[in-house]
Amino acid sequence: MHYLVTGGCGYIGSITASLLCEQKEVQVTLIDNLLNNDASAADTLKAMYPGRVHFEQVDVRNADSLRQVFSSAQFDGVLHFAGLKSVSESQIDPLSYCQLLTPKGMSLKSSR
Ligand SMILES: NC(=O)c1ccc[n+]([C@@H]2O[C@H](COP(=O)([O-])OP(=O)(O)OC[C@H]3O[C@@H](n4cnc5c(N)ncnc54)[C@H](O)[C@@H]3O)[C@@H](O)[C@H]2O)c1
Repeated sequence: MHYLVTGGCGYIGSITASLLCEQKEVQVTLIDNLLNNDASAADTLKAMYPGRVHFEQVDVRNADSLRQVFSSAQFDGVLHFAGLKSVSESQIDPLSYCQLLTPKGMSLKSSR
């Protein structure tokens, strides 16, 4: 089984990827735009599960990049955790939060 995890360098995404990799045959591809985290979680998971963890720096709002990701592998499932979560930040910049929350799922759907 091969799973795509968006927001894969984040808290929930990286823990989920780690739990998935406890199954011996599972591969995970993490995508993250690294807006709110660096790639250290991906590096750690790659070291823990050699050859079974892949990382691409991708913004889920970019449909072309997502198409490339989906053409690179046949995924059995997508776990979608890319997101923004700061209440105070959302009040200062609500448009960015709306843009990410609404079109991101559509980009994922249209890229498959
Ligand atoms: N942590 C919680 O307790 C909690 C609770 C309820 C809901 N959530 C939601 O779950 C999601 C993940 O939460 P988290 O705690 O792992 O957050 P997190 O910030 O640790 O991880 C989110 C990841 O998404 C990435 N990201 C942001 N915008 C992106 C984009 N456009 N394209 C690709 N990657 C992008 C960030 O760089 C980050 O690594 C969020 O949507 C959050 O609102 C979290």
